[in-house]
Amino acid sequence: MGETTDLLVVGSGIAGCAAALAGARAGADVTVATKASRPQESTSYWAQGGIAVTRGDPAALKRDVLAAGDGASDPDAVDVLVSAADDAVRDVLVETLGVEFDAEYGREAAHGEARIRHVDAATGKHLLVPFLEHLRDREAVTILEDAAALELCTHEGRIHGALLERDGTVTPWFAGATVLATGGIGACYRRSTNPRTATGDGIAMAALAGADVADMEYVQFHPTAFAGDERDEQRGRNEPGGRDETRGTFLLSEAVRGAGAVLRDATGERFMVDRHPDAELAPRDVVARAVADARERTGEVVLDVTPVDFAGEFPELASACADRGVDPESGIPVAPAEHFLCGGIDVDARGRTSLDRLYAVGECARTGVHGANRLASTSLLEGLVWGRRAGAAAGRTSAERGPEPIAAPDLADRDPDLPDRFAAEKAARLRRVMESELGIVRDPEGIERARAALRRLKGEVDAYTRTRTSRSLYELRGACVSALLVARAAAANDRSRGCHRLQEGTPANAD
Ligand code: SIN
Repeated sequence: MGETTDLLVVGSGIAGCAAALAGARAGADVTVATKASRPQESTSYWAQGGIAVTRGDPAALKRDVLAAGDGASDPDAVDVLVSAADDAVRDVLVETLGVEFDAEYGREAAHGEARIRHVDAATGKHLLVPFLEHLRDREAVTILEDAAALELCTHEGRIHGALLERDGTVTPWFAGATVLATGGIGACYRRSTNPRTATGDGIAMAALAGADVADMEYVQFHPTAFAGDERDEQRGRNEPGGRDETRGTFLLSEAVRGAGAVLRDATGERFMVDRHPDAELAPRDVVARAVADARERTGEVVLDVTPVDFAGEFPELASACADRGVDPESGIPVAPAEHFLCGGIDVDARGRTSLDRLYAVGECARTGVHGANRLASTSLLEGLVWGRRAGAAAGRTSAERGPEPIAAPDLADRDPDLPDRFAAEKAARLRRVMESELGIVRDPEGIERARAALRRLKGEVDAYTRTRTSRSLYELRGACVSALLVARAAAANDRSRGCHRLQEGTPANAD
């Protein structure tokens, strides 16, 4: 019993869309399962700055990616990225989807030149909406909205699709190949620039099925997320009875600093000038740590946008500030927030994981491009390039072999419900642990405390998954497993590098 498709793609951000398109072009019948019911529920939709291209100099882009990665990137993977970048952007985004990028190339931190293609500072929305429309019009592609993958269907180490939950019913979807494109782990942190749907589902499903994961300790924090909500908190203006911890936070794109905005602490000092020769345009990990320090020292950091035509160049951001009662000209309060997971499910140059017939693309995958710290505006690009490569490979082979139904786990007798309070309380506990022990700066004792707390939490969640199939429970499981993988990788790495920074004085800390 169950449904069948040649190629099952789980997730509908840019990487999942690119895989679906390439799979269909390779002749496969493709099903995209997305737990989102609107494009807004995807991190790709929220991407602001844009997508990097080479402007005819792939070696220069490669240099910048490697420098940002702090010596931990795989140069061969970076070659794949830079050599495919321009063709992928032209073929898919410009010629197939008709995206009209702004004429001016953007400049962002740690890029040696202006090479970012963008549409205002809302690039993700302008790519993703037409991408989903295009796929909906393709006969070979079916999009299942509001469909969450709970488990992979495995048989003798081979992946045959996934169990999908929709409207409380769980159905096996058997596929000749499965591509995970489920995004990152923002929901594991209190402050994140990701939507709350970023619960690490794909990473957890793959890891539980036995796939290799790598570089999980490299969790990137964006230096400039809106922090005006903290002022509201201090003035007691948040609604009584607690609040959604991420409500009010949004990203202030690096493109704003690229255009000339600067960072000031509460005394008005431009602290980045003493921290790095590139000041506000230093690599993201360096700026995020400096912002965190300056907030601790002086209480607040603001993004000073007076050198920029903020309302003219960044209208969406200006109106988001206005909505929250902040006048940008008097300085926008900012704080670091979890932004991107550089590691994930280990894949090769075609997105193949260590498990037969399973591929992973986008933020849930670790291609080796980002090393210890991702360069700005390379996430949409990586998703597009690997999505296309994995979709083509998986589409071709899955169309040849077709789906192979196996005996899938039967979850039909399990309770689809879960008390709302259970998931909310456990998720809040998980976020507290991650924020305090696995944030921007870590120490070995804190990492061990986190591991112990997360193991307990996962045990409590597992006990419920034996009898229930609630989506929020499985999301919580995804977050627990991903968080534990982050903690385990952090414990095993005693070298400060990129986004994995150990407190000064930690023994064996190389830097
Ligand atoms: C930004 O616009 O600052 C984010 C871009 C990125 O994460 O690459």
